[in-house]
Amino acid sequence: MPFLRENSGKLSPEKIGALLVVLFPLGLLLAQALGGGFAAPDAPGLGGPGLDAPGLGAPGLGGPGLGGSAPGGALGGEAALGARPLIQIILFVGDWAVRLLLVSLAVTPARRLFNWPKLLLTRRTLGLGAAFLIGVHFAVYLVDTGNLATAASEIVLRIYLTIGFVALLAFAALSATSWDGAIRRLGGPRWNLLHQLVYPATALALLHFFMQQKLDVTQPVLMTGLFVWLMGWRVMQHYGRGTGFLNLSALAAASGVLTALIEAGWYAAATGIDPGRVLAANLSFTYAISPSWWVAGAGIGVAVVSEIVLRLRPLPARRAARA
Ligand code: HEM
Repeated sequence: MPFLRENSGKLSPEKIGALLVVLFPLGLLLAQALGGGFAAPDAPGLGGPGLDAPGLGAPGLGGPGLGGSAPGGALGGEAALGARPLIQIILFVGDWAVRLLLVSLAVTPARRLFNWPKLLLTRRTLGLGAAFLIGVHFAVYLVDTGNLATAASEIVLRIYLTIGFVALLAFAALSATSWDGAIRRLGGPRWNLLHQLVYPATALALLHFFMQQKLDVTQPVLMTGLFVWLMGWRVMQHYGRGTGFLNLSALAAASGVLTALIEAGWYAAATGIDPGRVLAANLSFTYAISPSWWVAGAGIGVAVVSEIVLRLRPLPARRAARA
């Protein structure tokens, strides 16, 4: 397909938009690097004493020693992580890889819910953009580790890295087969089947995200909640119920509740905190709005906008039914 153009040769605003979305995190990364943003000695959230609190870094759950691969044997203490810009780049790029993955998974529902068929033109760019960030994430990890044998043994020994690696292999297979020739060679049905891999691979990436977190899992919970909505929509669409304000509102509510349950379940398993207390915290708005509300709110927002758009521009099937 021509670069930034539709098949007709006309410039495609959708493709240009997708490219800008992909370039945004790279620009941000560059701006932060040039502005010294990755060199702050005590970057918050990157391994201060509170994050290594006993009992919160259970083995196998991304516990102490995450930064243990530093050349010279520096451990993941306060000064060590803060002084290690490569770790901050790994985290930054990892975060954006997950965000881009979710954006690429949102293309199919958005096409349908906003009756915007040309959005399909963005999917490859967004998917490849996410895969590129995953590649950078892995490459910077290798550079930071400084030694292939050490990296390989860490990947085998640390379960959260093993899970990340399996996801990485899946994304590599998806990227390698994302060109038109591969679709022709594999044939439509086999290609589609292979590309269903994106769902388990994203689930593994989210698990990796959870497991490397030491205390606060707000971000992985939020991303997982959005993923739950995206998967829930696909199931509903399969049964012909992917549109309509009531269906979408029910999906929003169910995704919000599932998000809260995932959060409570994670804290219970990782730290032993009473799940009832975590669930109850969802009803307190004193400090922050919990991810479950963001997920439910986003779902309701989509339901409202879709209702308005589809009333103004009905889907072809609806138009035919009305006629
Ligand atoms: C071999 C494959 C992978 C390796 C070796 C790897 C390595 C790492 C490391 C070392 C960290 C930082 C841990 C810390 O010091 O706190 C990390 C965090 C992370 N990784 Fe990976 N990763 C891999 C695959 C992936 C994949 C496929 C994704 C998703 C698309 C991903 C997304 C993330 C995210 C979102 C974070 C956390 C960012 C944050 O906390 O802000 N990783 N990874």
